[in-house]
Amino acid sequence: KTLRIAVIPGDGIGTEVMPYGLACVKAAAKIYDISLEFEEFDFASCAYYQKHGKMLPDDWKETLSKFDALYFGAVGLPEVVPDHVSLWGSLLQFRREFDQYINLRPCRLMPGVRCPLANRKPGDIDFWIVRENTEGEYSSIGGTMFPGTERETVIQETVMTRIGVDRVLKYAFDLAQSRPKKHLTSATKSNGISITMPYWDSRVEAMSPSYSDVKVDKFHIDILTAHFVQRPQHFDVVVGSNLFGDILSDLGPACTGTIGIAPSGNINPTGKFPSLFEPVHGSAPDIMGKGIANPVGMIWAGQMMLEHFGYKEAAAHMLKSVENVLARGEDSVVTADMGGHGNTKSFGDAVEQEILKG
Ligand code: NAI
Ligand code: MG
Repeated sequence: KTLRIAVIPGDGIGTEVMPYGLACVKAAAKIYDISLEFEEFDFASCAYYQKHGKMLPDDWKETLSKFDALYFGAVGLPEVVPDHVSLWGSLLQFRREFDQYINLRPCRLMPGVRCPLANRKPGDIDFWIVRENTEGEYSSIGGTMFPGTERETVIQETVMTRIGVDRVLKYAFDLAQSRPKKHLTSATKSNGISITMPYWDSRVEAMSPSYSDVKVDKFHIDILTAHFVQRPQHFDVVVGSNLFGDILSDLGPACTGTIGIAPSGNINPTGKFPSLFEPVHGSAPDIMGKGIANPVGMIWAGQMMLEHFGYKEAAAHMLKSVENVLARGEDSVVTADMGGHGNTKSFGDAVEQEILKG
């Protein structure tokens, strides 16, 4: 079967790292004989907005629905279009309309990357964060009462549905079950948030017997953040609500190095809609146009995409290739954010060549 991928480079360094992400995915596809087809789109960018007065064409959903995945760079140029317009008009529409209810991020300490935590080596930190991506604390239910008066009151409700909670937990349990350690950690705060968080915990407990081989524990979010920093080796798969997952999924990758290397998947596990794979970083207007952006986040996002399609060996090979180039740590290859004097091209080409060695 040929898998169809919509390529959306977006803005800033998104357009600079995309060619190297694509080259690496194509290299892995070549070695493993995977049939992929790519089509590139110029929308979901501020340049498109300047031309058309909107971030997306009206028929974007119909157009993109035909693809098996979206490979996305980054969107946003605050000098040109306000961030809430560019982000809400594009990426957040994809997540919402394509019901990408899982946000998935690896936390993995790569060789050659300076770890901000003391005394850690590659292998010590290797876990996944699964974030609920559609409901929870990020609801639009609420409002302001008595605005401008002494009695001014603002309320915003958390929404948890059984379907919404169970589907993210199921994804996390399945992921944990597929890994050697088979260990799932749930983020909670049932000591302080006394309705929704005990509900979340009860759904974890209800699902646990169906995964008798998965070891489950839970921590309140406050101490959990401390454990991320102090004993990251404890974790295997961590699942959290929208807000807790949001916090953890920035903290986790931050514990393993530069923002330039982290990838992220916005996943619709049902396959009804395409999932989206992107680097965690944004368009980086401060360094755009210089060709120095770290392409690892983009390449690793492509690796996650192959994994998502079920091409385990190709994905493993791609990840190993990135690690090999990082481990060699050649000054002329490694980008500035990782302490070298290389650029996007030197690093991207090196990974592509490494993949092609087979
Ligand atoms: P950013 O991630 O673009 O940049 C933050 C800092 O990290 C900057 O100093 C940048 O130079 C550096 N950096 C980021 N990626 C790098 C890479 N690959 N290599 C080397 N250095 C890198 O976040 P910022 O500055 O807050 O946002 C800039 C724009 O990007 C805004 O419009 C924002 O809304 C948008 N954005 C978009 C995202 C997306 O498309 N998913 C995610 C985050 C921000
Ligand atoms: Mg965030």
